Amino acid sequence: MTDTLIAPEWAQPGTDLSGSTVVVVGGAGGVGEGIVRALLVAGATVVATSRSAGRLEEFARRIDDPRLHVRELDLLDPSLSEEAAALATEFGGLHGVVISVADWGRQGRKPLLELTDPEWEDQLRQNQTTVFRAYRAFVPLLDADGMILQLNGLSADLPFPLAAAVAAGSAATKSLTRTLAAELDGRGPRVYELVLGFIRTRPRRLAGIDDPNWIPATDVGVHVAEVAAATSPIAGHTLHYFIDQTAGPRAAADQG
Ligand SMILES: NC(=O)c1ccc[n+]([C@@H]2O[C@H](COP(=O)([O-])OP(=O)(O)OC[C@H]3O[C@@H](n4cnc5c(N)ncnc54)[C@H](OP(=O)(O)O)[C@@H]3O)[C@@H](O)[C@H]2O)c1
Repeated sequence: MTDTLIAPEWAQPGTDLSGSTVVVVGGAGGVGEGIVRALLVAGATVVATSRSAGRLEEFARRIDDPRLHVRELDLLDPSLSEEAAALATEFGGLHGVVISVADWGRQGRKPLLELTDPEWEDQLRQNQTTVFRAYRAFVPLLDADGMILQLNGLSADLPFPLAAAVAAGSAATKSLTRTLAAELDGRGPRVYELVLGFIRTRPRRLAGIDDPNWIPATDVGVHVAEVAAATSPIAGHTLHYFIDQTAGPRAAADQG
């Protein structure tokens, strides 16, 4: 069974995703796990993906919920569109997709001017091409009243010394998401960009890195569930920031 989730004070009543299927790409990751747990509590059928079969097996065993399904998926796989279509067929349609994907690269922290071409190309593929391909594969499959949401970090807006390629990816995908929302212009699924502050995750906790002032990953999940169910008071806005645990999620109302 899913762990008991303590709803944050700002949580909305009536968030019910029973009968809806939501795919969480990167669902077995740190923030992804919190989102999966909150979506399950909200009644959704959840498909959590990872590139690693072993990771999915451990994840499914740990969460142990009959509405949780796990599938191997790599956003860079040439057959991504076919795999996404197969998921939609298997689950009788998809209401939502959450893109909880990040990759810091093998180069670690490194000054911008020292990045090699292969390191740059790898980061471009992992942090930008992934999101583009997720949109191209999944958006046409989503319910008209469904949604797709990309998670991002504050490096979308701020300099991030020693992580230039990650920051460039954050800024680029924020732009990509907002452009997609403008292109769809209300036709088809809702499109969201959720920029996060520091998040408390299980992998961080296991590594001894934690701070009670950070936002629990499950709180991010509660917001994602409310956006998917359209019970969030800011569901009409594309660009969301969740930086402060107590204040809860906020819309950047002047930016769409
Ligand atoms: N943690 C924070 O404090 C924080 C703060 C701000 C924003 N965020 C955002 O939250 C999201 C998740 O971050 P996290 O902290 O949870 O990181 P994480 O634990 O490393 O999870 C990232 C996930 O990305 C997946 N992934 C990487 N490349 C992929 C690909 N080619 N295809 C499919 N999946 C791929 C990985 O899946 P595998 O299982 O296949 O490896 C992994 O589960 C990111 O968008 C990040 O920017 C996090």
